[in-house]
Amino acid sequence: MPLVSLNDVYADANRNYYAIGQFNVSNLEFTQAVLQAAEEMNSPVIIGASKDGVSYAGAHNLVAMVKAGAERISVPVALHLDHGPSMELVIECIEAGFTSVMIDGSHLPLEENIRVTREVVDYAHQHGVTVEAELGRLGGIEDDIKVDAKDACLTDPDEAQRFVEESGVDTLAVAVGTSHGAYKFKEEARLDFNRIATIKKRLGIPLVLHGASGVPRELTDKLTKYGGQIANAKGVPDEAYRKAVQNGINKINIDTDLRLAFTSTIRQTLTENPELFDPRKILATTREAVKAVVKNKMQVFGSASQGNSKSSEEKLAHAEIV
Ligand code: G3H
Ligand code: 13P
Ligand code: ZN
Repeated sequence: MPLVSLNDVYADANRNYYAIGQFNVSNLEFTQAVLQAAEEMNSPVIIGASKDGVSYAGAHNLVAMVKAGAERISVPVALHLDHGPSMELVIECIEAGFTSVMIDGSHLPLEENIRVTREVVDYAHQHGVTVEAELGRLGGIEDDIKVDAKDACLTDPDEAQRFVEESGVDTLAVAVGTSHGAYKFKEEARLDFNRIATIKKRLGIPLVLHGASGVPRELTDKLTKYGGQIANAKGVPDEAYRKAVQNGINKINIDTDLRLAFTSTIRQTLTENPELFDPRKILATTREAVKAVVKNKMQVFGSASQGNSKSSEEKLAHAEIV
């Protein structure tokens, strides 16, 4: 189907307690992997591209690839600007055909973050594009950080309420203990589920979890086995995704896990097949590895089987008929 913006998709996820995965791409193989996974799992999906992803691939190439792929499958697909740094890039991406954007003013003072976000919301909504913003700073909850300093990083529920009311944003990325990249936790993974629940109760809108890769041992072991270096990496366990979703998260961002799948597999393929020099044969193995990660996430996030149904009423009616 044609690319969608996320209002209907979010509304259904919000009503039915599941999260849609955002999977970041910047090339053809990742795009194919994510779209094939979505179709096979009957799951709605969000394809993300960061500023660096856009400058690597080109906004027009990303739109053409994702659009062409989405039109050949039957589940909702959105193309989303991840961590948009400026109004200029938001406009460039919306003009190129992105259907959802994030404006990341989380490093700004609250008033300024509200102002910049409001400006993006006004522009994006005129174009039927959904908007995500971020409040709070991503970072781990360490035992040795003082409460004051800890709370200063995580999203404050009062500020979140004011931020959403004044900015008119559709979804909010919250800082609850995760961080970007492969090194999220020194000890056990710790997410502030109560904070998610409190913010959700106040706002009611879909909440987004960034920095959510699982960094699974099987991928880090495979990377190490074939010469990569990734000591002491630690991510978000599956159980934490489930709890985050139960408490109100409706979108979960994954990038690092796809990179780990790609890099560990390309290392393995080249090591075990020194005679290979056809890029298609090499990259096909990485595409399968990325696809397997995406399918697993869709299962754990609860978005599998939610792709073709338009509304919970229809799903209910369908369930009753079946
Ligand atoms: O949230 C950050 C994403 O993982 C984007 O990473 O800027 O290297 O594309 P990138
Ligand atoms: P990871 O680095 O944990 O995959 O997070 C990705 C992300 O938040 C993209 O916005
Ligand atoms: Zn992020």
